[in-house]
Amino acid sequence: MEILHISAECYPVAKVGGLGDVVGALPKYQHQLGSIAKVVIPAYRTKYFETHEFDVVHQAGMWLGHDWYHFNVLKERSNELGFDLYLVDIPGLLDTPGVYGYPNDTERFLAFQIAVLDWINEWQHLPDVIHCHDHHTGLIPFLLSYGYKYTRLKEVPSVLTIHNAQYQGQFGWDKLYLIPSFDLWKSGLLDWGGAINPLAAAIKCAWRVTTVSPGYLEELFSNANGLESLISHERGKTIGILNGIDTLVWDPSIDTMLPLNYDIDTVNEGKQENKQRLCERFGLDSSLPLISFIGRLVGDKGADLLPEIISRSLHELPGEVNFLVLGSGEPHVEWSLQQTRQTVSYGFNVHIGYNEPLSHLIYAGSDFLLMPSRVEPCGLNQLYALRYGTVPMVRSTGGLKDTVVDFGDKNGFGIRFNQAGVWDVCYSVKRAIELYHDTTHLQAVRLQGMRIDHSWGSSAQQYLDMYNSMK
Ligand code: ADP
Ligand code: GLC
Repeated sequence: MEILHISAECYPVAKVGGLGDVVGALPKYQHQLGSIAKVVIPAYRTKYFETHEFDVVHQAGMWLGHDWYHFNVLKERSNELGFDLYLVDIPGLLDTPGVYGYPNDTERFLAFQIAVLDWINEWQHLPDVIHCHDHHTGLIPFLLSYGYKYTRLKEVPSVLTIHNAQYQGQFGWDKLYLIPSFDLWKSGLLDWGGAINPLAAAIKCAWRVTTVSPGYLEELFSNANGLESLISHERGKTIGILNGIDTLVWDPSIDTMLPLNYDIDTVNEGKQENKQRLCERFGLDSSLPLISFIGRLVGDKGADLLPEIISRSLHELPGEVNFLVLGSGEPHVEWSLQQTRQTVSYGFNVHIGYNEPLSHLIYAGSDFLLMPSRVEPCGLNQLYALRYGTVPMVRSTGGLKDTVVDFGDKNGFGIRFNQAGVWDVCYSVKRAIELYHDTTHLQAVRLQGMRIDHSWGSSAQQYLDMYNSMK
């Protein structure tokens, strides 16, 4: 079976969050299960792009509305990723240093989708499955079915994976002229709430729709940022498949980004050494419990709650706990974390920015990883934390609910709370400190978490079974 994944991100080529991790890992494991998995993403000017060699496998031009763009499809030469990687290079649109956040993102991702479809249209054989990820690739299932120039691709099964339904990529009908010609009677399939909505269009047109955890799918029926009725209507073709983690990248015993590697037998010494380094670097006291946060500093992650959680905990429990935050995002959250850093004299530090090696050190060197998410379709951080012997503290929502059991319950290995609110989190901070001082219990909780197998094996097989069900 040949699967083509189409995405905006793929680790280590271009990553903003978990989408990149998933698209960089799932195809590798599908390959191991005997499928041919290929990935195509835009050719942003990332470090990976600049430091690798590519062959041009397709050259063409395309109209985006009234503008003509040349594009190349490049294939990474060494095949080092465990799957075939293709990059779509569109100078003037996709040759940006970053992935998102440009004023013409609608045009950029539309052009990407058109270029990918034009390219596949030229293939001698056709892929068995076209697997789209999130709204950036959401118009593809529609165009496969109704785009005049893609009739050859009409019967290719398409899958949409929703990594996050909060982001839908809507744009106005005034931009309809940018979309390649299609049967206009089908325009309604593009519409949701009076706008062209790529995520909604994909939910309507893809043969199957998956979410990145079963719990998130259940939530979407009643809470999907306006798409609830649509998801409920399409319920019959939906399935929740829990993300896995790439155990070749996320393994404390071989992780080259750690000062000291460790495994389940050496976890105490290993974490102590990594914690020591981390605390020295950030001016924290390594004898105290260290609670960290890693992620996008946005409301969905509950990041706006952090300043108050941190100042209140340090005020009520002076000298009893440390906090460390790594992230970037909304300017007011970044600002207020930096303000908090200045007002509390000890016990807290923050690194604003994106830093992959530092994230690995934090997973390894922290005692607890806090995730007060309001929305969390799967969440990978808690899975990485577990593998590194770090106890996750999570709000009971989406994939967090599916993957973390409170240590107060049988065989538990984490801390759960119900509300994304300061009071609930502060209460959990107290529970974390108590657990930290009960060293035997902490050790048992830690080992319990480290033993869980979250590798991709079974989830990759579930995807293959789903593809087979479309035959
Ligand atoms: P989301 O995709 O919603 O941001 P996930 O939990 O699925 O959340 O994945 C987040 C991924 O991005 C993880 O690999 C995490 O370590 C990484 N990450 C997030 N913020 C940063 C940062 N500032 N520096 C380094 N890695 C980060
Ligand atoms: C999204 C979600 C996150 C999930 C990731 C990978 O970014 O916000 O919860 O883990 O996609 O599927």
